[in-house]
Amino acid sequence: MESGLESEEQTVSGLTTSKELCSKAQREGYAVGAFNSVNMESTQAIFRAAEAERAPFILQITQTTLAYTDPEELFAITTALSERATVPHAIHLDHGRSFAVVMRFLRLGMTSVMIDGSLQEDGKTPRSYEENIEVTRKVVEAAHALGVSVEGEIGRLGQIEKAEQETLLTDPGEAARFVGDTGVDLLAVAIGTKHGLFKGTPKIYHERVGEIAKQVGLPLVMHGGTGVPDDAVRAGVKNGICKINIDTQIRVAFYEAILEQADRIRKEFADADAKGEVHKFDIRGILAPARDAMTEAIRGRIRVFGASGKA
Ligand code: G3H
Ligand code: ZN
Repeated sequence: MESGLESEEQTVSGLTTSKELCSKAQREGYAVGAFNSVNMESTQAIFRAAEAERAPFILQITQTTLAYTDPEELFAITTALSERATVPHAIHLDHGRSFAVVMRFLRLGMTSVMIDGSLQEDGKTPRSYEENIEVTRKVVEAAHALGVSVEGEIGRLGQIEKAEQETLLTDPGEAARFVGDTGVDLLAVAIGTKHGLFKGTPKIYHERVGEIAKQVGLPLVMHGGTGVPDDAVRAGVKNGICKINIDTQIRVAFYEAILEQADRIRKEFADADAKGEVHKFDIRGILAPARDAMTEAIRGRIRVFGASGKA
């Protein structure tokens, strides 16, 4: 796979940039699903779901996956599927925390990267506006030289409590200034969502989304997509959200299927013991249903985002 794209063209397999995908979504009023992968089965589930829905999509790998697997290996699996894909897609670094990490993923051949400029490299301590600008500008310069699109972030996501939520929302004026100061292609915004499972229902600040969209003009990104009710998703899309990140919800689908398989295996082993037979071991019997459950969960999200049939 080429390292990035020199122009906003789509390769024959449909590989392009998030900017290309999300600008089209912005024009046509839907959102592109961005789904996190960590292994072969989740990568296959994402591609299969999008192919089945004839939908554009973004496969994303977070920096934290570096602790689990060598990104070159995971990227090799992704490339094999990407080269045979028949729907437009981007391969994206999600939540890159430093220039060095973003460069490592650019060298892999990512067609899109996120620099999480609102937090320090520890992923917790806030960066100042000036620090965010500085690191984001560096990433934009390098990525754009390779034809790779950049997602920046202003306003803090994270496990924020209700009480302080309003104060952490993205400010429309600051967002417009940030986009002007950095040249990013997409903007991740704090609008009431947070990563992971919600206790109760998240309050999405729809008016704020619309105000930011009006001032910024770029495709907006919703992080923390898990648990956002369908009507809130649709309202967000109407107001300017063009990329929606989903990770926890599809992990839950995988987990639940694995737990079901574990129950099945316990019963099979008990039966085998009762009959004095040996246990049978086949990890494909555990992973295939989990992969299918993840595929169905992704298809459901793609349909709610309005991206089905938009390939
Ligand atoms: O960057 C990834 C997403 O923001 C994941 O959010 O786990 O709440 O779906 P989620
Ligand atoms: Zn996120």
